[in-house]
Amino acid sequence: MLSHLKILTVTHKRTNLNEIGNFVIKSNNSDELKARLEKLKEQFELDELLYVSTCNRVMYMFIIDRELDSTFTSHFFQSVNPDLPLSTIENIDDIVFALQGEEAMEHLLDVAASIDSLVIGERQILGQMREAYEQSRQWNLSGDLIRIIFQQAVQAAKSVYANTRIGDKPVSIVSLAIQKLLNSNLPKEAKILLVGAGQTNALAAKFLAKHNYHNVVVFNRSLDKAQKIAKSLGGEAFTLEELASYRDGFDAMLVCTGATEAIIQRDLYQKILAGSKEEKVVIDLAIPNNVADDVVQEFPINYIEIEGLRQLAKENLAFREQEIVKAKRLLVQFQEEMPSLIQQRRLELAMRQVPEAIKAVKNKALNEVFQKEVETLDDSTRELLEKMLTYMEKKCIGIPMKAARELSLP
Ligand SMILES: NC(=O)c1ccc[n+]([C@@H]2O[C@H](COP(=O)([O-])OP(=O)(O)OC[C@H]3O[C@@H](n4cnc5c(N)ncnc54)[C@H](OP(=O)(O)O)[C@@H]3O)[C@@H](O)[C@H]2O)c1
Repeated sequence: MLSHLKILTVTHKRTNLNEIGNFVIKSNNSDELKARLEKLKEQFELDELLYVSTCNRVMYMFIIDRELDSTFTSHFFQSVNPDLPLSTIENIDDIVFALQGEEAMEHLLDVAASIDSLVIGERQILGQMREAYEQSRQWNLSGDLIRIIFQQAVQAAKSVYANTRIGDKPVSIVSLAIQKLLNSNLPKEAKILLVGAGQTNALAAKFLAKHNYHNVVVFNRSLDKAQKIAKSLGGEAFTLEELASYRDGFDAMLVCTGATEAIIQRDLYQKILAGSKEEKVVIDLAIPNNVADDVVQEFPINYIEIEGLRQLAKENLAFREQEIVKAKRLLVQFQEEMPSLIQQRRLELAMRQVPEAIKAVKNKALNEVFQKEVETLDDSTRELLEKMLTYMEKKCIGIPMKAARELSLP
């Protein structure tokens, strides 16, 4: 039932983006993340769970047959992050959106269609949600209801992208960050270190190539991905461990990994400066941030991070705002279809047992109830009887299926 759908989410709408890191599941690898999510699911007796973490939100979508309240929300996030500050717990209702049923569905549709994004119309969100869904499906965290709800959200988002101009003049967090980098007048021969080689830095590399920055060195946990990006730019590639011994200097650094702790710590930064006292451009697009606070405070840095891109994002919003109204109109249709889709699915599941049940009645009639009478029949009469019963069996299966389909039509 749609009323069982719940969302607990922290987004750029109510919080400083760095704060979102407090609500993210901290893990060093996917096995750890899986184990933490499984524990959360068990602890809070969630029937299904989908976890989405992006640069402007963290979302826990789940199925549970109970109402959400402040106590549930605070316990939930204390379990996600036992170090959550007391002041945050006290203000949890002002920070976390706790959404249920129709309201949760509406929010999910808005997110998928990227009208709830910091950069309205950015398409990355749909890809990120698909990956998150695929992960939760493979890990058996989500089930049938989340599948139906999620598929509807994807259809709705596609319809919005196809029927509005929300995605025109595409921009993303990465393109806005690169715009800021260009504003800093970095010369084309400047040396740029890319730390991380995921989707974000791969996209950043495309922008760097477009703007003719080729003096690039890529560091990543797994070397192959670093090599791929480096090759596209004609640069060099190293493992992340090798960053500590890198002494060839740099002018700008673009850090973006999935690490949930800062990886550019003071000592490391000091080493890679290799004695340089000049100001560096440091772009940190990770949530939580990958560059430690003391690095930003103690060294001469032109620091560009997501929170600082808000103003640029707002300017972008002005162009797309008119499309939000159209998008909302489209999304309402998808939302209205949801209860009947769920009903249809429940009937389908209930009907699954009908064929078996009818077959069992037929077999019981032949082999138990009328067994003696059947035994008195000659072969051809028995064959005819069995044919008639099989015919009836097939016809009977169709009757409740048809009735169920008609019932579930809106
Ligand atoms: N995608 C976007 O549109 C977007 C935009 C802005 C910001 N962000 C933020 O950027 C960060 C990365 O996102 P993404 O989409 O680029 O991720 P991604 O495609 O999943 O790639 C993750 C990258 O981080 C590395 N990594 C993961 N865990 C690590 C750890 N514990 N220590 C060191 N390296 C680690 C991975 O290395 P391996 O290759 O070795 O796995 C990979 O290079 C996230 O915080 C996200 O919120 C994303």
